[in-house]
Amino acid sequence: MIKRIAWAGLMLLSAHASADTPASFMARYAQEAGVAVTALSPARGEALYRGEHPGKNGAMQSCASCHTANPKQAGQTRVGKRIEPLAPSVNPQRFTDAAKVEKWFRRNCTDVLARECSAQEKGDFIAWLNQIK
Ligand code: HEC
Repeated sequence: MIKRIAWAGLMLLSAHASADTPASFMARYAQEAGVAVTALSPARGEALYRGEHPGKNGAMQSCASCHTANPKQAGQTRVGKRIEPLAPSVNPQRFTDAAKVEKWFRRNCTDVLARECSAQEKGDFIAWLNQIK
């Protein structure tokens, strides 16, 4: 019996640990940045998404280059591979997996901005995407 209860508790704990949501990422990044969640800015998140920066080959690029001007639409990699939409309202898989989120922020921010995104920027970015209906 006790074993059973302990097992159920473990299951609950592990289910909880993997239950990331856009809101839980916003809370985490705000805390990392040392600001309140309410200080995250959808406007700054959108500016980050649309901001153009010179790429390695001199051509301008932005997050929208691959994710398109409308994050409710599917995008495309440089070699034409489909990218599912980023907006959680149309793609509920988004911002539910910490390893994935961290991996792609690191890769794409370095690619577009030639540096990693700050915790504040990641929080702003999700704050913007998460309020798109
Ligand atoms: C060269 C193409 C490309 C550019 C430019 C790009 N991305 Fe992406 N992004 C991808 C691909 C490919 C994936 C992974 C495939 C997928 O998740 O559908 C991805 C996934 C992501 C994810 C994962 C989200 C999740 O929970 O699934 C985040 C966050 C992200 N990108 C942020 C950004 C940001 C921020 C920028 C601009 C600084 C950006 N991307 C620019 C191609 C790109």
